[in-house]
Amino acid sequence: MHVFGLWSFVWFSVLLTTKKTCKVHARVGDHESSPPGDETLAQLPELNNPHSSSHPEQRNLQTSQCPSVYPDPSEIKLLLSKEFFVNYVNQSLYISDIIKAQDYGPIEDLVPELEKVYERVDAFSDIDDQALIVKTKDTQLCFAAFQASDRGDRMVEGWIGYILDQWHNINPFTYKIKGTDCKIRQGTFDAYNTTYKVDFRRALNACVESCGDEQCPLVLAGDSQGGAVAMAAAIDVTQLYDPTVITFAAPKALVKSMPCSILNTEKHFRFVNTDVQGRYDLVVNQVNIFNEKHTGWTLLLDDINFPLGSPGLDDSRDRCPGTNDLHEYTIYRDRVQAIIDRDCFPLPVGGWPDGHYCRFDDECQTNQCHQRRCKRGL
Ligand SMILES: *[C@@H]1O[C@H](CO)[C@@H](O)[C@H](O)[C@H]1NC(C)=O
Ligand SMILES: *[C@@H]1O[C@H](CO)[C@@H](O)[C@H](O)[C@H]1NC(C)=O
Repeated sequence: MHVFGLWSFVWFSVLLTTKKTCKVHARVGDHESSPPGDETLAQLPELNNPHSSSHPEQRNLQTSQCPSVYPDPSEIKLLLSKEFFVNYVNQSLYISDIIKAQDYGPIEDLVPELEKVYERVDAFSDIDDQALIVKTKDTQLCFAAFQASDRGDRMVEGWIGYILDQWHNINPFTYKIKGTDCKIRQGTFDAYNTTYKVDFRRALNACVESCGDEQCPLVLAGDSQGGAVAMAAAIDVTQLYDPTVITFAAPKALVKSMPCSILNTEKHFRFVNTDVQGRYDLVVNQVNIFNEKHTGWTLLLDDINFPLGSPGLDDSRDRCPGTNDLHEYTIYRDRVQAIIDRDCFPLPVGGWPDGHYCRFDDECQTNQCHQRRCKRGL
């Protein structure tokens, strides 16, 4: 069978389950999330507090060069700094791309080249998974990234690896992680619980402890399946390191029935592509039959991203219709790059403005989505 055939079959099954469980209900007055308190934002050095005294000046500065309509401060849920985008988000995207199965063979082969750029590099692979740890030279941050699904068009891992890797996505079992109130999809757990797991943890530890008296900040990153695996890693390391988690196009990892209260979801940023037809990255809502959930900040990317759309924190709504076209890594990359190039920071995060496309009330500043457009004063 043509390799792409199997891949398509898997995703077709996913599409069916998604279609069945993902209905659009526009509910007026649906307040699912409230803005976080000041103290929680203050825990994040890379984020600015929307209520801080520097804000009015920055606002004037921004309006002279950037989109003229700056959201009302009361409608901003979060402000993301340029440093956060350049040092955290862009870097997370970059290493999430490197770690994907590619023509070059196992990720270990890339270490000599990566060592020219990074202060530390550790790379791991087994038959169906890969992980990469790097420490940046200038910013002294540790990043760990996990491999996305092998789509079968690259095949570095061979047939067996490809099938095992796909099984991570469709394995119907779940696993309660010992010593926690977290339950995770078995496939996601298995993609983290690899043959190199012990060595990976040792290397991660060495990286985080390599910044002298203080720990180096740790970022767990991943694209697609790799983003779900980053969640498994977050549960594993969170009591030791308080990681930031940055994912792109990630499917759900956690099972809804368990709270998973150890996660610091304020430090989890989940990028999801949308388009003018009001569609979403399909994979993000994948296989709901397991009754899973998302956590963290949902960040809905469009072609403008000012404000960067967000229904808020710990939003787990299934957003449909989905399309696999929006799952492309390059769209995530180009949009993040466009945000950085535009250089309008701090970037406000909140509901979409009036006139923006929408499917759900919670996507709009006004909390009113009417005939697929954000509206005021219905
Ligand atoms: C984002 O990362 C890529 C890869 O490291 C780099 O080429 C690009 O210059 C970065 N963009 C910015 C704005 O730093
Ligand atoms: C995790 O991996 C180890 C080593 O491969 C294995 O012994 C253990 O059973 C795995 N844990 C789970 C819950 O699957």
